[in-house]
Amino acid sequence: MHTLLITGASQGIGLETARLCLAAGYRVINLSRHEVPDAGIEHHNIDLSQADSESQLRELLAARLPAGKITLVHNAARLDNDTAAATPTANFREVMAVNLVAPHMLNQLVIPLMQPGSSIIYIGSTLSEKAVPNTYSYVVSKHAIIGMMRATCQDLAGQQIHTTCICPGFTDTQMLRTHVGDDQAVLAHIASLSTFGRLVEPQEVARTIKFAAENPVLNGAVIHANLGQVET
Ligand SMILES: NC(=O)c1ccc[n+]([C@@H]2O[C@H](COP(=O)([O-])OP(=O)(O)OC[C@H]3O[C@@H](n4cnc5c(N)ncnc54)[C@H](OP(=O)(O)O)[C@@H]3O)[C@@H](O)[C@H]2O)c1
Repeated sequence: MHTLLITGASQGIGLETARLCLAAGYRVINLSRHEVPDAGIEHHNIDLSQADSESQLRELLAARLPAGKITLVHNAARLDNDTAAATPTANFREVMAVNLVAPHMLNQLVIPLMQPGSSIIYIGSTLSEKAVPNTYSYVVSKHAIIGMMRATCQDLAGQQIHTTCICPGFTDTQMLRTHVGDDQAVLAHIASLSTFGRLVEPQEVARTIKFAAENPVLNGAVIHANLGQVET
C-alpha cells in the first residue's frame, strides 16, 4: 500500500491533499497540532516548532511507519508578518523550525524507509522565487525549500525516489485569510492579481501535489500552481 505522510493536514491544502489520497486508496498519516476533521486519516499531534519534536517523530515513526512506498509531503508552514530589520531571532528560529528544520528531520527519519516509487514533495510558494515586503522569515524559508528539494534530488540519484517542489499562488485557505486580516477588499484585490481573476482553490493544489507524487518525470522540478499571476 502507498502511504502518504503529510505535515499540516488539519486544514487547507494539506487537508485536501490528505482527502484526495485517502480516496485514492493511500494510507494517510497527518502530523499537526490540531485534529484532522475526517475519519480515516491517521492524526498525530505534534508541534513542529518545538525542540523535542525530533524525538517524538522518531518514536512515532518507529511504531507506525514500516518501510514501503511512501510519499512524504512537507506542507506545514508558518507565515509571520515580519521584516529584515525587526524580526526577533526567537521568532525567526521558530519559523525555520516549522518551515525548514521539520522537513530536514523528517527526511532523515523517512528516507531510509522509502522503497522505489516513493517521493518527497516540498510545498514552496510564489515567494520561493520572489520577495515582497513584510514577509521576511517566510520568504527566506521558502527560498531555502527549493534548495532543499534540489539537493534532495541530487543526493537520491539512483534510488528511484523522486522529489518536486510545488509553489502555490494565492490560495483560499486560513493562512491567506489570516495574513490579510480577513479583509474582503484585500482578498478581492489579491484575486484580481491572477489571470483568472480568482484565488486558487486548495483542491487544485492538492491535485497538483498528488500528480507530482505519482510522476517521477517531475524529479527536481519547481512547479508553480498559481493560475498565472498578473505582473505589475
Ligand atoms: N494559502 C496560500 O495562499 C499559500 C500560498 C503559497 C504557499 N502556501 C503553502 O501551502 C502550504 C499549506 O498552507 P495552507 O494555505 O493550507 O495553510 P493553513 O490552512 O494555514 O495550513 C497550515 C498547516 O500547517 C500546520 N502547522 C503550522 N504550524 C505548525 C506547527 N508548529 N506544527 C505542526 N503543524 C503546523 C497547521 O496545522 P496546526 O495548526 O493544526 O498545527 C496547518 O494544518 C504551506 O506550506 C504554505 O506556505 C500557501
